[in-house]
Amino acid sequence: MDADLKKSDKYGWVFLIAGLIGALIVGWIIFPALLYSKKEQPIHFSHAKHGPDSDAGMSCEDCHFFYEDGSFSGIPKIAKCIECHEDAELPLSDSEEEEKLFTDYIVPNKEIPWLVYSRQPECVYFPHMAHVKMADIECNVCHGEMAKQDSMPVYKVNRLTGYSIDIWGRNIAGLKKNTWDRMKMNDCAECHTEHNKENNNACFVCHK
Ligand code: HEC
Ligand code: HEC
Ligand code: HEC
Ligand code: HEC
Ligand code: HEC
Repeated sequence: MDADLKKSDKYGWVFLIAGLIGALIVGWIIFPALLYSKKEQPIHFSHAKHGPDSDAGMSCEDCHFFYEDGSFSGIPKIAKCIECHEDAELPLSDSEEEEKLFTDYIVPNKEIPWLVYSRQPECVYFPHMAHVKMADIECNVCHGEMAKQDSMPVYKVNRLTGYSIDIWGRNIAGLKKNTWDRMKMNDCAECHTEHNKENNNACFVCHK
């Protein structure tokens, strides 16, 4: 009896460490994997192959522009793609993605159901005009470097809230190294304060 007690005393630390490792695995690997589900983008679009330094040689505004009423066009419609990808018999590349673009969307004239990484919940009002034109903030401050992006990141959706992972950030510890790593309510408000726009931190400014 005595000897047994001593034995379990001696090896208690083994269970402690095993328990800690178990908790870390659950917290850092299993929980995030359960919380977020992956979704496949309909087409893999390469910004690098369409941007300013590519053969297509386009500027951001060629595809993402403002309408006259100040609203933002967002992701371009299929009509924009057809300007160059007009003939399935004369593709611009030997890529399977371009083939998919023709057969699934251009020929049947269907819009591409893109998954939007930065999409905020319905209740949030975000005007691009105020940020890009009035405050002169560059796209990459909020979205990261897009021009060089050749492949799209995996899209992940939070099973509980339905938000894209890019709202709360991809770092499980909630760390933020770059301005574009996360776009929660506080991230919006912090920047308004930095720009001396505290008045924009009243609830009704961002929630209509
Ligand atoms: C040929 C048209 C085209 C050009 C030129 C273009 N984009 Fe895009 N952009 C797209 C398409 C299509 C998508 C949707 C697919 C995706 O997310 O990559 C997109 C998505 C984005 C998104 C992601 C939005 C989100 O949250 O899901 C950002 C940010 C963006 N573009 C910024 C830029 C910037 C900055 C430039 C200039 C360097 C640029 N784009 C040039 C077509 C274009
Ligand atoms: C100004 C002309 C132009 C427009 C507009 C354009 N593209 Fe392209 N696209 C190109 C060129 C040129 C290539 C070949 C690039 C290369 O291989 O380097 C290409 C290649 C592609 C590819 C194959 C890339 C790969 O993986 O190799 C896809 C997919 C694609 N485009 C999708 C789109 C979509 C979606 C749109 C509309 C949002 C669009 N393109 C609009 C010129 C254009
Ligand atoms: C101050 C931060 C900020 C800046 C600067 C910014 N964006 Fe955004 N962008 C956002 C947010 C936030 C959303 C999500 C808006 C929503 O869900 O209503 C978004 C959404 C988008 C979308 C997806 C729109 C959709 O819903 O279809 C595209 C494309 C995009 N931005 C491109 C750009 C481009 C191109 C620029 C530069 C000209 C730019 N953004 C500048 C924060 C920003
Ligand atoms: C990088 C800095 C920055 C970030 C991030 C940012 N904002 Fe702003 N925002 C500004 C500045 C600066 C203005 C003031 C523009 C002006 O009036 O000159 C502004 C203005 C606004 C306005 C007022 C527009 C108007 O018509 O008066 C709204 C609404 C707004 N932001 C919502 C948001 C939301 C929602 C987010 C987060 C999803 C966000 N902003 C993130 C800098 C930022
Ligand atoms: C600067 C812009 C901004 C201001 C000001 C702001 N919010 Fe938000 N709010 C957001 C954004 C962006 C989200 C979504 C991202 C998140 O969950 O952090 C959000 C999310 C929320 C949600 C969760 C909604 C959901 O569907 O999950 C609530 C509730 C909320 N806000 C209440 C408030 C209240 C109350 C105030 C005033 C004290 C306020 N907000 C002020 C930007 C703002």
